[in-house]
Amino acid sequence: MNAENPSMNTDNATAKKMPFHKYKPFQPVALKDRTWPDNIIDEAPRWCSVDLRDGNQALIEPMTPNEKQKMWDLLIEVGFQEIEVGFPAASQTDFDFVRKIIEEDRIPEGVTIQVLCQAREELIRRTCEAVSGAKNVIFHLYNSTSTLQRKVVFNMSREEVVKLATDATQVVWDNTRDLVASGTNLTLEYSPESYTATEMDFAVEICAAVMQAWKPTPENKIVLNLPSTVEMATPNIYADQIEYFIRNLPNRDSAVISLHTHNDRGTGVAASELGLMAGAERIEGTLFGNGERTGNLDVITMAMNMFSQGIDPRLYLSDMPKIVAVSEECTKIPIHVRQPYAGELVFTAFSGSHQDAIKKGMQYVEAGGDTDWEVPYLPIDPADVGSSYRETVRVNSQSGKGGVAFILEHHFGVSLPRSLLLEFSPIVQKLTEADGGELKPDMIWKAFVNEYIEVEGPYQLIDYQVHSESDGGETCQAKVQVGDNEVEVYGAGSGPIDAFINAMVETLNEPLNVVEYQEYALNEGAEAQAICILAITDEQGNRYYGVGISQNTTTAAFKSIIASVNRKWQI
Ligand code: KIV
Ligand code: ZN
Repeated sequence: MNAENPSMNTDNATAKKMPFHKYKPFQPVALKDRTWPDNIIDEAPRWCSVDLRDGNQALIEPMTPNEKQKMWDLLIEVGFQEIEVGFPAASQTDFDFVRKIIEEDRIPEGVTIQVLCQAREELIRRTCEAVSGAKNVIFHLYNSTSTLQRKVVFNMSREEVVKLATDATQVVWDNTRDLVASGTNLTLEYSPESYTATEMDFAVEICAAVMQAWKPTPENKIVLNLPSTVEMATPNIYADQIEYFIRNLPNRDSAVISLHTHNDRGTGVAASELGLMAGAERIEGTLFGNGERTGNLDVITMAMNMFSQGIDPRLYLSDMPKIVAVSEECTKIPIHVRQPYAGELVFTAFSGSHQDAIKKGMQYVEAGGDTDWEVPYLPIDPADVGSSYRETVRVNSQSGKGGVAFILEHHFGVSLPRSLLLEFSPIVQKLTEADGGELKPDMIWKAFVNEYIEVEGPYQLIDYQVHSESDGGETCQAKVQVGDNEVEVYGAGSGPIDAFINAMVETLNEPLNVVEYQEYALNEGAEAQAICILAITDEQGNRYYGVGISQNTTTAAFKSIIASVNRKWQI
């Protein structure tokens, strides 16, 4: 024990321990000859959004009818063709919403609505009422099959649970005949809820029994949805469970195997990805993984993972800022800044070496180095999801000169000569260290303006006139504020800049040795401004940069001269 701080234990053997003995390891599936690890994902699955049901059920404040409508519109825009619209027999709001989209003809051609229902006769009848008049419907029937729930919740034998499911299937069949006769394309989806906590042979048995009751065909398949209602094991075990199920299910070609993973261990996406490799064809999930407890599968991450591997995700996620905004508005849950592909910081580099590598990668891509996306530290092009390369580099105390150069160049169009950058970066570094946080582009710009453009000092340019002389030279007559006095200066030279420098030197007796000069346009069009970056040296060889900006190139140059002289006086 540490005598000064008893809570700091130096003896490992007597260290405090978590109560891990309360828990037992999940028993893996005995599937020695598994084949899924060699498979690769090369095609998007059938996606089904459960935002309006599983996602909505998990909210502190469930969505209002207006919010449901907004979320529905977004899901349609994103391209979902199967959308679970609610649990109409359990919630009047859900019932009303389903009726509204049917009656107001808001379901686009080719989109199927899905409704969840427990295996109980009165609920099944009410659900059928809710979907009456819809063109394409998936009736999603579920009951829990888990070993634990059979024991502690229902006190039912396996046979009794199978009977419950098959009886309910029969009730769905009987109550949907009128719908089908009136032209509704109806599919049954059956979920053995808590599939992953169910004995595998029993899960197959109950699904096979439901299939026998429903009689699907390869042309008119049933959807068998295998939820990891609570994620309990590593994703490879889920994949084994899916491969086991597919191998052992009779009439496999009459079923679509669907996955529905939750995220209790933080691997909901990985589980669905491995489950897809194991042969599943359809995935249920929500935008950004909103859902019970730690959430559902995050459809956006999974789809974008495919996209980043060159696979068409079959969802349109280009306007990510809009998807984020609508999701946040409807769920009232903010998207984390590190949310894959969508968070505010996910394409941002603060570290100097990362910034440098990104800059070089971008230059390589922009120069046509490769048609593939090959930029270090950026798995995808931020522009593909409505973000911009400009936002990738941000500056704090971890950043170096590359970050400063990037911000000036990409936010303000100013490209600094190397020695000026080397001089200005430590100024930015000091500001970030003093502040402790990020220095936003406008703050960096302000620091640059204060240091090199609006320089306090004895001289200010008031006015000037330049004349072209008949000998080809130029003269310059300027009014300069020198301390409290206004002074007229006059000089001649080969050009206006030369003439102004000579005027300053001769009239003010100020030595001016220009060693560096560059001028370029900052932007284009009628409002275009020129920037002049200029350096003078003194007798000791010290270099003083000054910068001028104006719509007039001569004014920009004169201002840069005045700024550099003022800096010489300052330092
Ligand atoms: O997580 C789950 O098991 C569910 C079912 C109703 C499919 O949401
Ligand atoms: Zn769920």
